[in-house]
Parts: sequence; structure tokens; C-alpha cells
Amino acid sequence: MAQLKVDLGSRSYPIFIDTDTRQLTAHLTPYLKNRNLVIVSNACVADIYLDDLKAALSKNYQVSHYLMQDGEQYKSFETFHDLIGFLLEGNYGRDTTLVALGGGVVGDLTGFVAASYQRGIDFVQIPTTLLSQVDSSVGGKTAINHPLGKNMVGAFYQPKAVLIDIKSLNTLPAREFAAGMAEVIKYGVALDRAFFDYLEVNKAAIAAFDTQTLINVVKRCCEIKADVVRQDEKEAGVRALLNFGHTFGHAIEAHMGYGNWLHGEAVSAGMVFASKVAQLNGLLTVEQVERISALLEYFKLPIVGPATMSYQDYMPHMRKDKKNLAGEIRFVIPTGIGSSKVTNQVSEAQLKQVLGFAPSAQD
Ligand code: NAD
Ligand code: GLY
Repeated sequence: MAQLKVDLGSRSYPIFIDTDTRQLTAHLTPYLKNRNLVIVSNACVADIYLDDLKAALSKNYQVSHYLMQDGEQYKSFETFHDLIGFLLEGNYGRDTTLVALGGGVVGDLTGFVAASYQRGIDFVQIPTTLLSQVDSSVGGKTAINHPLGKNMVGAFYQPKAVLIDIKSLNTLPAREFAAGMAEVIKYGVALDRAFFDYLEVNKAAIAAFDTQTLINVVKRCCEIKADVVRQDEKEAGVRALLNFGHTFGHAIEAHMGYGNWLHGEAVSAGMVFASKVAQLNGLLTVEQVERISALLEYFKLPIVGPATMSYQDYMPHMRKDKKNLAGEIRFVIPTGIGSSKVTNQVSEAQLKQVLGFAPSAQD
């Protein structure tokens, strides 16, 4: 079992990583002050994991559950409203803890309901996708989507604990596992060169689902994220670096329709675009960009955007990015493998070039 801590003073919480959800729940006791638990999940995840989790928790708690629909399009106002209605109809008070069992969609929505219901109730994350284990369950970003933009309504609201069962990755569809690898590789490129090297050397063990290698990978990602969040919980500075690849990626996701390109797939192509911007600015060599692309490709991730997207399709979405300041688009670009910076110094000509479009006469 691995354990680490997100150090945020009175809002600190532990992350437990193991290979058995039942055993993991035993660690929860000190962090659950409420008797009433509501597990939030979807039918896909619940079919595999709900009974076990309920059985483990029911020994000491009153446990019920709420199932939302499966898919990014359900990280919505409608689901938010429906879950709040479920809690009100069930007379759940502030002495209730929500338990998010699922991927980032379930986790983000549950977290935002927890942040809002009766001005805030406790919640716990039990992430079951690679992406949610290495990224979304840690750090307290909660959100729902608006038709005009992804994650546009939400709150910074930290869970009381995170339980990560590595074995839950065994049932994850291959495409979802690959999408999670995009966020894993993100940490290496943006923040930790040694970790990038580790991923290159151990890529076959990761692809073969070697348990210890996966524990090492998930633990290192959580350590990096916990350290970043400790320094900058509300993304006033260094946390923005975790958005490497996301400015382009969010544009792809939004334009293609949520769910058609998975978040991690869009971020993968976005990281290659941002790396090429870095190359144009002399910050990465051609070989380094090729190393980044090769590692993404090894996990069958896209390194170019959708063929159907034009330059004009990217721009409106990138202009709505939450990192933007004073109307200027800000990008995270590597300054080497293992370090990165935020910049607004990316010309239209550079953008066109990295996205694969010919420059116009005025560029
Ligand atoms: P997801 O939650 O949609 O899960 C992917 C699919 O896998 C779903 O169909 C789900 O039902 C299924 N699934 C989940 N666990 C499974 C398992 N163990 N076995 C079989 N099937 C399983 O997608 P995701 O990639 O986990 O999360 C994406 C979301 O996370 C996006 O909405 C993104 O915006 C958000 N996100 C949030 C943060 C944050 O900091 N809060 C960070 C990154 C991404
Ligand atoms: N996924 C980026 C962050 O949590 O800041």
C-alpha cells in the first residue's frame, strides 16, 4: 500500500493506493465523520464495483447510492439538478458524505454537488479510470460543463480522502487507459524529466499492466500533483502548468462534441502542438519533440488534430480558455523535457504552422 498527503493545512487529505477496494475502505474511518454515505456512480462502473464497495462500507455506515448516466455530456446542469433533487427528496442533511465511484465525469460532478449542496458537504473520491487516478480525483477541481464551454461552472473544493484501487484499471477499456496515459505523460514532459525517462524505459511494463509499475506511475503522478496543488491550490501560478496540452485539447473536445474525442486523446494532440510551438521558439529540439510524440504514439494516442478541423474551428474555443488574461490566449509550452512555462507570445503564424495550416498572406 502506498500513502501520500495533499498538504493544504486544515483541508489536507490522504491518498491511499492499493490493489483491493475493500482493504482501502478500512483507511477511510478517520476521515468520515458522517454516518450517512451516498455513493455516486454510473451503471457501467456500478455493475462491476458497487456491490463490493457497498458491502465494505455498510458495516459501519448507512449507505445508499445514486446512478447518473454515463458520458461527458452528463456532466451537466441536468445531472447536477437531478442529484440535488435526489438528496433533498431523501432528506439528506449536512451530515452526509458523497462518495464518487467512477472516472473524472462522476468525480467532477459529485465534487461540485458536494461543494454546493446545503453550502457544502463532505465527499470522498474513489477514482476508477487511469485519468481520474492520476489527475482529476486529486486537487479539488470540481465542475460541470456549459453548452458554451467545458468545465465552465465549478468550484475548488477538496475531498476528505482519495482511495485508488489499481486493480480497477483491469476492467477499463483500452482506449480509456490510453487516454489516461496522456495525462501521465503530461506530468513527465511539463514537470519531471526523470519521470519522463522512467515512462520511456518502462512503457512495455505499463502496457502489460504490471501492477507494481502501475502503482509507481500512479503514485508519482499523485506526488507531482499534490506538490503543485500544495503550492498553488487556486491556479494563480504553477498549477497552470498542469494544463499543458489543454488549450488546444479543449478546443478539439468542444469542436468535435464532448465524448467523440476523449479528453486524454485531445490533450495528447494538444501536447504535440504545444511542443512544436516550443520547438519554433528554440526551447525543444526536433529530437525532443519526436521523443514526446513517440511515447504518445506508443500508447496509441493521436499526435495530430482531427482532419475535419480548420484553423478557424480552433480559435473561438481557445479564446474562451480559463487561463486567458486580458483577452490574450495563454499556452503552456515546454522549456525542455521536464519543465514548462506559460506564455502569451505565440503568433498566429506559429499557431497555423503547428496546427498544420498554411499561413495567410498577412501572417
Ligand atoms: P469518464 O469518467 O467518462 O470514464 C471513462 C469511461 O470509463 C466511462 O464510460 C466510465 O463509465 C468507464 N469506466 C470508469 N471506470 C471504469 C472501470 N474501472 N472499468 C470499466 N469502465 C470504467 O472519463 P475520465 O477520463 O475518467 O474523466 C474525464 C473527465 O475528467 C472530463 O470531464 C475531464 O474534464 C475531467 N477532468 C477533470 C480534472 C480535474 O482536475 N477535476 C482533470 C482532468 C480531467
Ligand atoms: N487537471 C489540471 C488541474 O487539476 O489543475
